[in-house]
Amino acid sequence: MLLLRFVVLPATLFSAKPHQEAKVVREMAKPMRYAGMTACRECHADEYDAKLKAQHRTIGCENCHGPALVHVADKTDKSAFPPKHRDREFCLGCHGYVSSRPNGFPQVDGGKHNQGKRCVSCHDPHDPTPPETPKDCSGCHGRIARIKAVSTHAQLACNECHQVSEQHFKDPRSALPSKPQMRQACASCHDSASKAPKDADASLKRVDFKAHGRTYVCWECHYAHLPEGPK
Ligand code: HEC
Ligand code: HEC
Ligand code: HEC
Ligand code: HEC
Ligand code: HEC
Ligand code: HEC
Ligand code: HEC
Ligand code: HEC
Repeated sequence: MLLLRFVVLPATLFSAKPHQEAKVVREMAKPMRYAGMTACRECHADEYDAKLKAQHRTIGCENCHGPALVHVADKTDKSAFPPKHRDREFCLGCHGYVSSRPNGFPQVDGGKHNQGKRCVSCHDPHDPTPPETPKDCSGCHGRIARIKAVSTHAQLACNECHQVSEQHFKDPRSALPSKPQMRQACASCHDSASKAPKDADASLKRVDFKAHGRTYVCWECHYAHLPEGPK
């Protein structure tokens, strides 16, 4: 048994270490292709400075322009000029609507948002802040807007439950809107003891706030943007 374990069978059967070592050697042997963002600063200070202050600050130059080490080594070689992707599909790869993208990530519907025109004709890729701020919450909260649009709360405006300042449209994270804190936020329309709003539809469903859902806040059971729950 011992002979089999230590002499006959190869060590790679028992440990991941030889595999890891081989992988490192393999990767090290590959030629370098990326120069890194700071390398671009020397010659493209305008693009570098613009990007650093703007929303694309977290994205490396070579994320969009591709590996550019060859270009940095020889700036006169025209055949090695990094590509400039000016097609819509390129931007939509990150900004097209995908429901799993994080809350507030700016997304647009490629079929609707200024269709047929190049994104770069309005947005500077190094400082993409739009020429005017989005008019609608769905510009950045597409997922929530779409869920709500097919719910029983479809007719309710977002600001019925959230107070939103102008600043939130310009620099969203610096001025977050309010969110309902207590069950009273839903009382005006759903408390059977409440008469307001006076002009409310008689068919509006009301519950006894003292008994229904005990003392939990309503949105522990009802997602406010789809309160009836998924069908
Ligand atoms: C040593 C100077 C130098 C460095 C470093 C450098 N570039 Fe350039 N780059 C140039 C010159 C010169 C040109 C061609 C003239 C022009 O259009 O400005 C150019 C052109 C470009 C173009 C436009 C190509 C075209 O078709 O118009 C892009 C994109 C570009 N560089 C990206 C980068 C990126 C990304 C980096 C960093 C990884 C980088 N450059 C680093 C000098 C440099
Ligand atoms: C979000 C993607 C993106 C990032 C990040 C990005 N670029 Fe660009 N860049 C573009 C696009 C798209 C164009 C073409 C714009 C056009 O032709 O209108 C471009 C054009 C350029 C040009 C040519 C400018 C000209 O006048 O023709 C240079 C140089 C350049 N970028 C350098 C950089 C450098 C340096 C960085 C990093 C500091 C960088 N880019 C980061 C997308 C990007
Ligand atoms: C690699 C992914 C990636 C690519 C490619 C990309 N972006 Fe972005 N974009 C981002 C990120 C990340 C942010 C910052 C989002 C945030 O702050 O939450 C952003 C922000 C933006 C914003 C919001 C600016 C604001 O003021 O609210 C616009 C508009 C935008 N990008 C347009 C573009 C355009 C046009 C292109 C194509 C030239 C492009 N993006 C390519 C990742 C990308
Ligand atoms: C005709 C000019 C124009 C074109 C072309 C255009 N946009 Fe916009 N974009 C705007 C304006 C104006 C706004 C702000 C108002 C709004 O939401 O409609 C905006 C808003 C945005 C936002 C949300 C802004 C934010 O702060 O979160 C994103 C993301 C965006 N655009 C990406 C793109 C992408 C990607 C393309 C190409 C597929 C594109 N845009 C093409 C003008 C344009
Ligand atoms: C320019 C893009 C943009 C627009 C337009 C926008 N938001 Fe936001 N919103 C964000 C971002 C980014 C966050 C932060 C997300 C995070 O940190 O998880 C956010 C967060 C929020 C939050 C959560 C606050 C918290 O404490 O968690 C609410 C509620 C909200 N927005 C409501 C709205 C409403 C209602 C509108 C329309 C009147 C709107 N937003 C328009 C980008 C935007
Ligand atoms: C019926 C009231 C109501 C309406 C209408 C409403 N919300 Fe909300 N919203 C809530 C409640 C309640 C929460 C959850 C608060 C918590 O979890 O602390 C919430 C949470 C959020 C959050 C935080 C992230 C999340 O998913 O929990 C965002 C962003 C948001 N709402 C945006 C919007 C937007 C955009 C609209 C309009 C399209 C909208 N809301 C309409 C009640 C509402
Ligand atoms: C401005 C009035 C208003 C507010 C505030 C409001 N709702 Fe509603 N709600 C409605 C309307 C209108 C309907 C759809 C018609 C109906 O169900 O009678 C509805 C439907 C519902 C339903 C679905 C009832 C069914 O058909 O099964 C639930 C659950 C619900 N709301 C929960 C909430 C919760 C939780 C809150 C607080 C975060 C809230 N609502 C805030 C007006 C409101
Ligand atoms: C512990 C979970 C829970 C909590 C908390 C809760 N609900 Fe409900 N709610 C339910 C369930 C389950 C139903 C469907 C069964 C029923 O009719 O009792 C429902 C039904 C409803 C209905 C529809 C009633 C009808 O006649 O069809 C409304 C409106 C409603 N809830 C509003 C609220 C409001 C407003 C709050 C906060 C005060 C709240 N709920 C808190 C679980 C909860």
